[in-house]
Amino acid sequence: MDFRNAKVGFIGFGSMASAICDGLLMKNVVEPSAIYACARNMDKLRAACDKRGINACAGAEEVAAASDIVVIAVLPQQVEGVVKDAADALRGKPLFSIAAGIDYAHYVSYLGEGFNHISTVPNTPIAIGEGIIVAEATHSLTPEQLALFEGVFGQIAKIEYFSSELLSLGGTGAGCAPAFVDVFIEAMADGLVKNGMSRAQAYKIVPQMISGTAKYMMESGKHPGELKDAICTPGGTTIVGISALEETGFRYSLIHAIDKIMEKKHSM
Ligand SMILES: NC(=O)c1ccc[n+]([C@@H]2O[C@H](COP(=O)([O-])OP(=O)(O)OC[C@H]3O[C@@H](n4cnc5c(N)ncnc54)[C@H](OP(=O)(O)O)[C@@H]3O)[C@@H](O)[C@H]2O)c1
Repeated sequence: MDFRNAKVGFIGFGSMASAICDGLLMKNVVEPSAIYACARNMDKLRAACDKRGINACAGAEEVAAASDIVVIAVLPQQVEGVVKDAADALRGKPLFSIAAGIDYAHYVSYLGEGFNHISTVPNTPIAIGEGIIVAEATHSLTPEQLALFEGVFGQIAKIEYFSSELLSLGGTGAGCAPAFVDVFIEAMADGLVKNGMSRAQAYKIVPQMISGTAKYMMESGKHPGELKDAICTPGGTTIVGISALEETGFRYSLIHAIDKIMEKKHSM
């Protein structure tokens, strides 16, 4: 089917589902009238749907019946109950799961064989069409359903496939780490404010510096070390800043943060 006419359903319409929906609407991927959503609290759901001009549905079965592709966007511990209850309606539909930690094997254990699903972890910049979707390479979408998934959601996120073993780690890098960048922005701004810049001015330059630096690296294909070296004049000021970062363990802080997240995930 042509993905431009796709009808997209959301089972669960909290923070992450709204972020995906907002990305689809912002980038004109899907018309508001072709988006369907359900949640438990109807008043809250109606308010969220009316604001976006999308359809509020009474339950998962109604969403599945109306949609060509269904996003499973409830909390991880809610997935089993939700998909088992709506199993008849979900059979044959491509299911795009965003629940952290709920991989292909979990879906098979909940639904058995004969369902079409892909497990992923998206991240919040998807709300402006700049997301990453870390997707499990093992899935049960048909080639047509996979093309539909990529055709619709590939317009608001870069889709990267990982083995089942690396899905959770990929989710840490894509889904958790935006919070690290937010802290980085805030801390950089603190340093600028401490030295006399206004907070408003700091929040204008720091995010653009990060966005531009990341794009430059991706578009030039250069190694980050090479780009760093190019800014560090011998005997200059930038290398003094780099040296101070090393002194306070900046690199190790990030490595340690990933270690701790993975430790926590493995204990759950
Ligand atoms: N937030 C992120 O940055 C992020 C990133 C990657 C992945 N994820 C994944 O995205 C999923 C959703 O996370 P979130 O942050 O969006 O959570 P959330 O804001 O709590 O949203 C959960 C949604 O599920 C609905 N829901 C619960 N039980 C339901 C049921 N039986 N039938 C229909 N809807 C039901 C809730 O409705 P009510 O509010 O009415 O109860 C709510 O709309 C999670 O599995 C999470 O792992 C989140």
